[in-house]
Amino acid sequence: MRKNIVAGNWKMNNNLSESKALVKGIKKAIKGKELKNTRVIVSPTYVNLRAVVKKAKKSAVEVAAQNMHQADSGAFTGEISADMLKSIGIKTVILGHSERREYFCETDEILTKKVDQALKNKLEIIFCFGEKLEERKNDKHFEIVESQLKNALFHLDAKAWKNIILAYEPVWAIGTGETASPEQAQEMHAFIRKIISEKYDAKVAENVSILYGGSVKPANAKEIFSKEDVDGGLIGGASLKADDFVALIDAI
Ligand code: G3P
Repeated sequence: MRKNIVAGNWKMNNNLSESKALVKGIKKAIKGKELKNTRVIVSPTYVNLRAVVKKAKKSAVEVAAQNMHQADSGAFTGEISADMLKSIGIKTVILGHSERREYFCETDEILTKKVDQALKNKLEIIFCFGEKLEERKNDKHFEIVESQLKNALFHLDAKAWKNIILAYEPVWAIGTGETASPEQAQEMHAFIRKIISEKYDAKVAENVSILYGGSVKPANAKEIFSKEDVDGGLIGGASLKADDFVALIDAI
């Protein structure tokens, strides 16, 4: 049975003390909560990962990295390898976020290498994808999403998918307050599940968690998360305050 997941992508926010305070606040707020089938994940920046891993120990809060390099090691100034992430207790990594694609020119080809490198290192992946506003306006959103998934993930064998979490994040909804409607989210998530089922089989499609990301807030989360093929959210702005983030966990 696929898991519900509420994951907070902190992006380039929070220094060391703010990071420790935020994860402490989340830990305290969810202590004793019946999380049942729900996973709670936070994703600080590289410099704060180790401290947040230590703070989150013995709690239901998991910690993910926001990125990683595709090489094992070497002359890549400023980059971080999968092995370095594993060495500080990281088991999950976000890949393919639209901001990485946009600002750091991460192509499907680069992302395929990152996916393979993460799986080689037995890391779980939260794989992000989604169309731009123009693409939706031109009714190309299904085509774009299908190509992003096919180009970076459809070379994998079925068993690799137990380490994949999908995050559909329409670019026009990220940080804009223009949340996709619950119906739009459900329509795309159902399409994603269909193409996975056609490529692999119903079991792989049924077992993969598909998160929605893009201006999820406490006011709209319940309706979006209630949709059959929405298994939670990848949250930006609303993950930066413990109360807001926990309200999203309560909304699952
Ligand atoms: O990765 C999640 C993020 O892109 C969504 O951001 O601020 O629209 O919730 P936000």
